[in-house]
Amino acid sequence: MTSAHRWAVSCLKKTTDVLAGSPPLLARLVAGVHFPNPIGLAAGMDKNGVALLAWEALGFGFVEIGTITAYPQPGNPQPRLFRLPEQEALINRLGFNNEGAIAIARRLKEMKEKARWPRIPVGINIGKSRVTPTSEAAKDYLMSFQTLYGLGDYYVLNVSSPNTPGLRDLQGKEALATIIKTLRDWEGTPQKPLFVKVAPDLAEEDLMAVVELAEEEKLAGLIATNTTLDHTMLPPSKDQAGGLSGRPLRIKSLETLRLIRRQTALPVIACGGIDDAASAAERFRAGAHLLQIYTSFVYQGPALIREMCAHLDCFSS
Ligand SMILES: Cc1cc2nc3c(=O)[nH]c(=O)nc-3n(C[C@H](O)[C@H](O)[C@H](O)COP(=O)(O)O)c2cc1C
Repeated sequence: MTSAHRWAVSCLKKTTDVLAGSPPLLARLVAGVHFPNPIGLAAGMDKNGVALLAWEALGFGFVEIGTITAYPQPGNPQPRLFRLPEQEALINRLGFNNEGAIAIARRLKEMKEKARWPRIPVGINIGKSRVTPTSEAAKDYLMSFQTLYGLGDYYVLNVSSPNTPGLRDLQGKEALATIIKTLRDWEGTPQKPLFVKVAPDLAEEDLMAVVELAEEEKLAGLIATNTTLDHTMLPPSKDQAGGLSGRPLRIKSLETLRLIRRQTALPVIACGGIDDAASAAERFRAGAHLLQIYTSFVYQGPALIREMCAHLDCFSS
């Protein structure tokens, strides 16, 4: 047996341990949604919602699909994803490649009808289509929201990915308020939990304006954070255009969480550079309600979820 074989078999063994289910102590109730454990898969891995049952089987406590746009789009030309193993980091400029809201809604409905739906919450992350001018962003988000309505346990307005020109400008208070009000006006009551995902690169006063708006509009909470455009922590030879994720993002995401927590008691889903049990515990101590991982999962695989859950018992309420 090769060492790679031994490693793969031991990962599978750990996965079946996870399949036994999350211990009740790890469960959380956030925004009225029951999460069997607080470790989720961040947006961008399952953009089209094709593998929902697999994420549950691997031990995640929830999964966020997308980013989904109103219109299908191919994303940016390749190469567009770069591995930086020494930094346990990734740089991506995928540009919201996805099948579009209509096709994905069709798939999700079929999965529900055929009882192929996971027992973990599914979040739906929506973003602006590239072809839609920023001035018409609210209409574009509304189209996705309407098309996917009722299929997710919570929804996320992604206004923070760096790879769609002008998208991050939608974090401005006025533009964001217009999007939220447009969705809420259409929705009436009852309202689905709605989160806003923020960038780690926002100036403090701009971040505080988003927090203020989230409180005024009674949002479910914030996701902190998306990838960063700050690449100063990388050796120049490794640099590429795009959003940086993984270990180099850890401090910035943690700082963003702390700034938000100083200002509000709203739930925060912490994301960015969480790559072991210690960094997971650190986010809970800083006031996170739930966590999401992406890059560390790419490098370390599903055993990481189990390791984090095993060490989180003591943080359960
Ligand atoms: C390849 C890749 C694609 C991503 N795509 C999306 C996306 O479509 N929507 C989104 O909100 N975030 C996306 N993200 C950002 C992640 O959801 C997450 O916020 C970020 O990577 C920080 O977490 P991490 O350090 O654990 O990776 C993507 C990240 C990566 C690495």
